[in-house]
Amino acid sequence: MEDRPIGVFDSGFGGLTVARAVIDLLPYENLVYIGDTGRYPYGPRPLDEVRGFAQQIAAKLVQEHGVKMVVVACNTAAAAGLDRLRQAVDVPVMSVIEPGLRAALRATDNGRVGVIGTVGTIRSGAYQRSVKELAGESRVELTCAACPGFVEFVERGETDSDQVYVLAERLLAPVREAKVDTLLLGCTHYPFLARTISDVVGRDVVLVSSADETAFELRSTLAGTDLRRSGDAPGTHTWISSGDTDTFRRLGRRLLGPEIDRVEAWDPGA
Ligand code: DGL
Repeated sequence: MEDRPIGVFDSGFGGLTVARAVIDLLPYENLVYIGDTGRYPYGPRPLDEVRGFAQQIAAKLVQEHGVKMVVVACNTAAAAGLDRLRQAVDVPVMSVIEPGLRAALRATDNGRVGVIGTVGTIRSGAYQRSVKELAGESRVELTCAACPGFVEFVERGETDSDQVYVLAERLLAPVREAKVDTLLLGCTHYPFLARTISDVVGRDVVLVSSADETAFELRSTLAGTDLRRSGDAPGTHTWISSGDTDTFRRLGRRLLGPEIDRVEAWDPGA
């Protein structure tokens, strides 16, 4: 039972931020990662289409790789319908939305929290709804801003350029004006742009990435259950891409590290 891998997926390279944290915190766990680089970006797509992709990928992880858990390392896919995804597969499903938001709420002093994400995530209202549940009695003013274009820069491996800086200045203006003291990176690609984002919003603003928080929550979920892998043999990692596998290996190694040694191709069909 405990040898079954943890399944992690994203539209592309963004979920590697989560996979990195999972490998670091849970080095004995086996992991299967699917990056749907053939169909990225998810952000501008209709949410029902993204929901279909997410269900297809989760089903593949469960049926073909026998995963014991699915981590939706993509805010857009989670925002498109986590409940339906949970109904569709018979293993626990975790998302990055609640862990990230919980961390942002812990970090804020002035109660003004910014969330940036894809158009799909921000438009879905997922963060606006979750903050009502998680903030309870505390007064929190949430400022949400969509950042179309950020994901494409990361997928091209362009994480630090004048163009991304100029785009960030324009897109981050609403969170700067709202005087947030905490900014949640509500897209798993954005930690790769953290230096630019921090430079633009001001280095006194705390940036929160959902990657570490999700891995911590995953660790507590597994702790004390028979789902945790025991023993001291390092976990194995399987990397799958629906796009160009050489690109995934090359850029993936730069973004995540040497654990990405071989990348399997997957054709998801239409
Ligand atoms: N990494 C995905 C997210 O967290 C972004 C996706 C995309 O637009 O493809 O929302």
